Amino acid sequence: MKSIVITGGAGFIGNHVVRLFVNKYPDYHIICLDALTYAGNLANLSDVEDKPNYEFVKMDICDFEGVHHLLKDRQVEGIIHLAAESHVDRSIRDPFAFAQTNVMGTLSLLQAAKLYWESLPERYEGKRFYHISTDEVYGALELTRPDGEAPYGDDFFLETTKYNPHSPYSASKASSDHFVRAFHDTYGMPTIVTNCSNNYGPYQFPEKLIPLFINNIRHRKPLPVYGKGENVRDWLYVEDHARAIDLIYHKGKTAETYNIGGFNEWKNIDIIKVVIATVDRLLGRPEGADLDLITYVTDRAGHDLRYAIDSTKLKTELGWEPSLQFEEGIEKTVRWYLEHEEWMDNITSGEYEKYYDSMYKNR
Ligand code: NAD
Ligand code: TYD
Repeated sequence: MKSIVITGGAGFIGNHVVRLFVNKYPDYHIICLDALTYAGNLANLSDVEDKPNYEFVKMDICDFEGVHHLLKDRQVEGIIHLAAESHVDRSIRDPFAFAQTNVMGTLSLLQAAKLYWESLPERYEGKRFYHISTDEVYGALELTRPDGEAPYGDDFFLETTKYNPHSPYSASKASSDHFVRAFHDTYGMPTIVTNCSNNYGPYQFPEKLIPLFINNIRHRKPLPVYGKGENVRDWLYVEDHARAIDLIYHKGKTAETYNIGGFNEWKNIDIIKVVIATVDRLLGRPEGADLDLITYVTDRAGHDLRYAIDSTKLKTELGWEPSLQFEEGIEKTVRWYLEHEEWMDNITSGEYEKYYDSMYKNR
């Protein structure tokens, strides 16, 4: 049985990747390795926890000895690395945590994989270290067509775009990307890096724009729009990202970088209006009832103006395309959050953290 470690599998994107691999590949042994920080939630994986090809290991990626032992013990052939501190606003308040997990944690994982794989007679043959990164490492684009239809600018992030991160989050992700590529160039480790745009969909922690706003609208709480709400993000439905990860893990070329995005740019204020309209409609509230919740607040420090990914390479080389139109994706997403009030309420009340304590206290 092929053993694959998926780090950060209890987080937002990770749980979709774990679910896809566990269900699609019954002959793989899927190990979800996660430290269960505030962002990790085992309830996200309750539908796969009893599958015979699934295992959960509570571990910090910075625990080099622990990770090395696990890789050796389970004879791990592949690593899909999603574990990270992922929220820009938190990185502004606590940059050390981002350097620790995103840089040192990634290095610890790389070094543990190197030590184990180099100890084998076949060394790196049949192995893969796949690092999941973000478009934010490329910096910010201009709004050269701000008043027309999207796209809101003439340029896009390409795989060859020079790194120019602005936030502590993106700086830490950029650094980890460099370490991954350095392990290929220096030691011959079979690595792959992908840089994806903003994801949305079920199970996203409600500190990020879309789930935070859905929950606030539901409770008629203010919606804090940073600055003028004119920043542009390129949104991709999370299951489309998970499908891309599956494809690239199996068919992507070693040492390559692939950009993943939906050619789906939205100004924040426009997306917020779509979310309000969808929540109101699904809750049977009158049209426009909650528009007055929009509250303009002080802008995020160093707020990147526009992200827009060109994912032509992935389409041309591997045939990947997003499957959902945005309107369909946002409808599915809003419906999911409204139908999973308990999931949301457990998170916002902090109840989910007690669940881990009771499960893992004696292990
Ligand atoms: P998330 O914050 O929802 O989940 C992160 C997961 O990593 C959590 O389960 C957490 O418990 C775990 N984790 C954190 N620190 C850890 C540590 N030291 N050891 C082990 N586990 C740890 O993040 P997400 O949104 O699912 O993002 C996953 C990855 O995808 C990240 O690497 C992020 O940079 C990247 N990414 C995210 C987006 C997005 O829009 N969310 C877009 C592009 C790329
Ligand atoms: P976010 O979901 O934090 O993702 P990222 O910063 O990684 O793009 O934010 C998406 C956009 O929404 C970003 O431009 C910041 C903005 N935003 C707000 O205006 N208000 C909020 O409360 C949040 C969380 C984000």
